[in-house]
Amino acid sequence: MNILITGGCGFIGSNFVRHILKNHPGATVINLDKLTYAGNPANLTDVERGYAPSRYQFIKGDIADKEKVEAIFRGSNIDWVVNFAAESHVDRSIDKPAEFLHTNIFGTFCLLEAARKFWLDPTADITKKRFVHISTDEVYGSLSDKGYFTETTAYNPSSPYSASKAASDHLVYAYYRTYSLPTIITNSSNNYGPYQFPEKLIPLMISNAVKGKSLPMYGDGENVRDWLYVGDHCSALLATLKRGEPGQKYNIGANCEKRNIDVVEMICDYLDKRLGLTGARPRRELIEYVPDRLGHDRRYAIDASKIHNELQWKPSVTFEEGIVETIEWYLNNMAWVEDIETGRYRVKYRGKRHD
Ligand SMILES: NC(=O)c1ccc[n+]([C@@H]2O[C@H](COP(=O)([O-])OP(=O)(O)OC[C@H]3O[C@@H](n4cnc5c(N)ncnc54)[C@H](O)[C@@H]3O)[C@@H](O)[C@H]2O)c1
Repeated sequence: MNILITGGCGFIGSNFVRHILKNHPGATVINLDKLTYAGNPANLTDVERGYAPSRYQFIKGDIADKEKVEAIFRGSNIDWVVNFAAESHVDRSIDKPAEFLHTNIFGTFCLLEAARKFWLDPTADITKKRFVHISTDEVYGSLSDKGYFTETTAYNPSSPYSASKAASDHLVYAYYRTYSLPTIITNSSNNYGPYQFPEKLIPLMISNAVKGKSLPMYGDGENVRDWLYVGDHCSALLATLKRGEPGQKYNIGANCEKRNIDVVEMICDYLDKRLGLTGARPRRELIEYVPDRLGHDRRYAIDASKIHNELQWKPSVTFEEGIVETIEWYLNNMAWVEDIETGRYRVKYRGKRHD
């Protein structure tokens, strides 16, 4: 079993590489990652040291590089593709959308074309092949106070990021409809957990709160996100690879809606207890309301009953457990955060955030 994981040096990808190596002993993982500012080889140092090349190989490269992608398919007889590679930060897409179109749309197209070329060859065993495309609930747009996103909710993306992911989802599904390529799309809610780049809401707030720095809160702080622990996302993806039906979409979520302000206050209160107050002040006093993001979606909420019922997957971690694990991971890995914030691994960190 040869698995091509793209974007494996990012947040969810690096957690998934570790998860699949541990839980799928027969698998060889090839990680194709361009190492943009969001891709960090340090996320997989333990994997590089702990697994032989027969289990894990890293290839630096762009999913939009047709020759490189074809060479991987040709050389390694790929069975599963798990496509995490993407430009993923909404604020960056608002400032500079072009890269989002290149990677998220054209890059996904190049992967699909390679799969079409090598998997639809009569000598290939198509029944073993799966192309799982990792997408987001942001393709559905924003919800009011009521209702949930289901797999049949119409796409209505708000940002260049979500529009580019929506376009890639349509392409992936079109390759199933047109060529019978065994593709599956997963749309998950907001993830949190170890190795998340510290410009996203939860790691940024942890990092700033530890240091006693200001906690920038968009708008009125009442935007609602439906939080999913990254380890639960990984187990849902493995269930999808093993039991998912080609041509299907699966929403992945943990039924865990929280207002942003409530998440940040939980982090502040935990750190106050764990580390003591900062300068004799509770950390909640560090929260500073800043002008809202353009086109900021109000609420996301996932109906995950399809994946529960059809693939027998359910989350194992509550938000209360997951947030403590996450805060403790960041406290134990502040050097990892510092390396990113001071630009040792990447181009200059811009200090913006998105949720
Ligand atoms: N983070 C979330 O909450 C969330 C929720 C739902 C869906 N998703 C989706 O999951 C996937 C992974 O998200 P993440 O938060 O881990 O992202 P991330 O930004 O942390 O990581 C993205 C990875 O892709 C790599 N990459 C970017 N462009 C590339 C290219 N052209 N070729 C090869 N590699 C490239 C980067 O170097 C990085 O390692 C994305 O597709 C995203 O849309 C994320």
